[in-house]
Amino acid sequence: LAPAGEAAPRPDVANIAHRGSSGAAPENTIAAIRLGLAQGADVIENDIQRTKDGKLVILHDASLARTTDVEQVFPGRLSYDVGTFTLAEVKRLDAGSWFAPQFAGERVPTLREWVAAVGQRAGMLMEAKLPELYPGIERDIDKELRSMGEFQRAVKAGRVTMQSFNHVWLRSYADLAPDVPVGLLFGTRPTEVDLTLAAQWADQVNPALGVIQESDVARIHQLGLETNVWTVNGGQDMQRAIRWGVDGIITNYPQVLEEILRG
Ligand code: G3P
Ligand code: CA
Repeated sequence: LAPAGEAAPRPDVANIAHRGSSGAAPENTIAAIRLGLAQGADVIENDIQRTKDGKLVILHDASLARTTDVEQVFPGRLSYDVGTFTLAEVKRLDAGSWFAPQFAGERVPTLREWVAAVGQRAGMLMEAKLPELYPGIERDIDKELRSMGEFQRAVKAGRVTMQSFNHVWLRSYADLAPDVPVGLLFGTRPTEVDLTLAAQWADQVNPALGVIQESDVARIHQLGLETNVWTVNGGQDMQRAIRWGVDGIITNYPQVLEEILRG
C-alpha cells in the first residue's frame, strides 16, 4: 500500500488493445486503433492475413462475412474467405457498419496502413493469423515491414512483437527476422515441456488467462520469458492478472484496464 495521501504507482503492466479498442469500435479498423490510443493503450494488437493478389491485410476471421458487408457487395460467391478476394475487392467493403452506424465507411486496413496508424504512438503486437493458409507469408510480412521506417524505429525501440498460434510458422518467421521478438500463443495450458522449449528460442508465452494458474506466470518469468494474457475483459480478471504479475493484458476494453491500472 502507498503511504496515506500518495497515489500507488501504476503497475508495470502493458495495456494491450485487442484488435484495437474492439469493445467500442469495429475490430481491426483504423477507428479501433485511434480509439485505443485515445483510451491509453500502450500496445495495439492485430491479425494479419493475405489477399488473393498477395497483399497483407488486417482481419481476424478467415472469412470477411462477420466483419464486413461482403455478402451484400458480392452476393452468391462460393467463398467469402479473404484469400479468395483481391485487395481492390476488399477495399470496396464496409468494415464498420456491422458494428454501429457511426462507423460506416471504415475499411479493412492493409498491414502498411495499420503500421502507419500506430507509428510511434504505441507498441505493436502483431499476430500472423492462420499462416498455414498462406504459404510463404513470413517472407511477405518481413519484406513489407522492413520497407517501413515506422516499423524499423519501433523494432529499435523494443516496441514490436510477432505472435502466432502456429508455432512452427513462428519459428520460420523468427529465423527470418531475428531482431523481432516473438510470442507463442496458447489456447490451452502450456506444459513444462512447452515452456522449456519456448525458452530456447521465443521471447513471450501468451496464453488465454482462463487456462493458466499463478504458478505458470512465475515459471514463465523464471525461464526468462514474458507473458501477455488474453482476452481479459472483466475488472476482476484484470485485477487477478495484475496480482499474478503478468507483463501485459490483452483486452477489448483498454479504457477499463487503464482506470484499474491508475487506481
Ligand atoms: O492476442 C491474443 C488473441 O488475439 C488471440 O486470439 O482469436 O483473438 O486472435 P484471437
Ligand atoms: Ca489476435
